[in-house]
Amino acid sequence: MPPTSSTSPATSQRTRVLSGIQPTSLSQHIGNYLGATKQWAELQDDHEVFFFLADLHALTVEAPEPAVLTQRSRQAVAQLLAAGVDPDRSAIFLQSHVPGHTQLSWVLECLTGYGEAGRMTQFKDKSARGERVSVGLLTYPILQAADILIYQAHQVPVGEDQRQHIELTRNLAQRFNARYGETFVVPDAYIPKASAKILDLQDPTAKMSKSLPDAGTLNLLDDPAVLTKKIKRAVTDTGSEIRFDPQTKPGVSNLLAILAAVSSTTIDTLVGQFDGQGYGALKVAVAEAVVAFAEPFATRVRETMADPAEIDRILARGAEQARPVAEATVADVYERVGFLPPLRT
Ligand code: TYM
Repeated sequence: MPPTSSTSPATSQRTRVLSGIQPTSLSQHIGNYLGATKQWAELQDDHEVFFFLADLHALTVEAPEPAVLTQRSRQAVAQLLAAGVDPDRSAIFLQSHVPGHTQLSWVLECLTGYGEAGRMTQFKDKSARGERVSVGLLTYPILQAADILIYQAHQVPVGEDQRQHIELTRNLAQRFNARYGETFVVPDAYIPKASAKILDLQDPTAKMSKSLPDAGTLNLLDDPAVLTKKIKRAVTDTGSEIRFDPQTKPGVSNLLAILAAVSSTTIDTLVGQFDGQGYGALKVAVAEAVVAFAEPFATRVRETMADPAEIDRILARGAEQARPVAEATVADVYERVGFLPPLRT
């Protein structure tokens, strides 16, 4: 199904695409893949693409052990490669390797209202859950806006949960442009229709998330037996009919969405195929399809992780591609706001 976006993904050869993922765990879950990184791999053919690991963002909720964060960052790169993102066609880098993100973020923070930042639903949800609410959690969406605007990105492939952050990014771009003259491209969210919000298997009213209990989350690096068990225990709905109806049948509809996306078919086809069969048959099919995808994915991740120096080289190459673009935007922005340019001696 085509994603929702106000510009067609194929309108320009040079349309610039950017997105990021937080290295907050050792494994992407299937929501991250179907909502985001699968599209990243698809977009790299016809677009100029920048993909990064949002390691600065990964400090906002918990500050993991330093060695753990390092390991997660490398493993996140390995998973992007396993998802089909190709370092020869995409700039893959760490947010912390490009200082421009935080340099721009400061200027954007000063354009953002305190109340405006406080209204972000992810901030409200995460701060309601967390014991410790950092200032970084409040300013997180502004750093995200800087991540996007610094590359003058046209499209941002993300899941539904990021829509509000992209809206804020657009507002900040427009606000800056109105105050200081045309500077930023105003980006569009690029959100897949059917898999924009994969739901938790144990609570199909909530999105699948790293922060919910593990039983409801399909981690792509889970063992095949664990994936199968989680799918077989997925909460389904009353009745026995297999129908796509997210309102009254969120559990079954979620399984259909996962199966359709993983096996590159349509939900309509699946509904026809499962006509007259029960939830058990659907779960078997979902488990088989997910395992068939996850097993080779995990093998590719293991292979890549066997050579961490190569991962570091990929990141160095990506940062070299990203830095000049970021530096040019920061220089332009700093001049426009009136910072005295440093004299080079
Ligand atoms: P993060 O790391 O939480 O998630 C990475 C991507 O996965 C998508 N996603 C989902 N899609 C469908 N169903 C789900 N259940 C699901 N859960 C997560 C997210 O929408 C996201 O696209 N703030 C971002 C990272 C970020 C970023 C950026 C993204 C930092 N700077 C600039 C785009 C542009 C985040 O926390 O994603």
